[in-house]
Amino acid sequence: MAEQKATNVTWHDHHVSKEQRCKQNGHKGAVLWFTGLSGSGKSTIANTVDHKLFEMGKHTFVLDGDNIRMGLNKNLGFSPEDRTENIRRIGEVSKLYNDAGILVMTAFISPYREDRDQVREILGDGEFIEVYVKASLETCEERDPKGLYKKARAGEIKGFTGIDAPYEEPEKAELVLDSDGKGIDDLADEVVAYLESNGYLTYA
Ligand code: ADX
Repeated sequence: MAEQKATNVTWHDHHVSKEQRCKQNGHKGAVLWFTGLSGSGKSTIANTVDHKLFEMGKHTFVLDGDNIRMGLNKNLGFSPEDRTENIRRIGEVSKLYNDAGILVMTAFISPYREDRDQVREILGDGEFIEVYVKASLETCEERDPKGLYKKARAGEIKGFTGIDAPYEEPEKAELVLDSDGKGIDDLADEVVAYLESNGYLTYA
């Protein structure tokens, strides 16, 4: 838990409520939290879901690990402490999107269960949908889209997730996507179907 440093600050309630925003959008807000190894397909699936929902007229956005690490989180590395802070900040940013009634997709390795649970707590049940993009290390290493596993094996990157840094599998993910066995489009359809059948895509 990050400590509250600033004193003499006052919370301001918005004049336009989240409910009013969702009603105008015609659907609920939620955070789809994609987690998994590097190369598991998180970003690609998240962006495909984003595109499908966008085409359906929904209000969506994607927060992606590599991109956020070049801006908001450029001062963070890959130590356990920095990864925790990375996820805490993204959790808070995704909460802001959620308050705006947007369906936001995040694609971060987020290797620590405790950090993901912390975000679940910030957002509350029903608003946080943990999506485990499950692919074996062998598959991810074979794909190696950025050539980073090769570098990690050669000792050129230290503390690489799956090689010499841990990845803690989710125990209570709302959705588990079989990225070893199925293609991107089918997996994205599974996510959209989940949102549809759980009432996220309409607002009564
Ligand atoms: S997280 O662990 O803090 O959630 P995040 O998703 O933001 O990680 O960033 C992961 C991306 O950073 C990987 O997909 C990869 O491109 C790059 N990367 C660079 N160094 C490492 C490392 N040591 N471990 C994992 N990913 C790394």
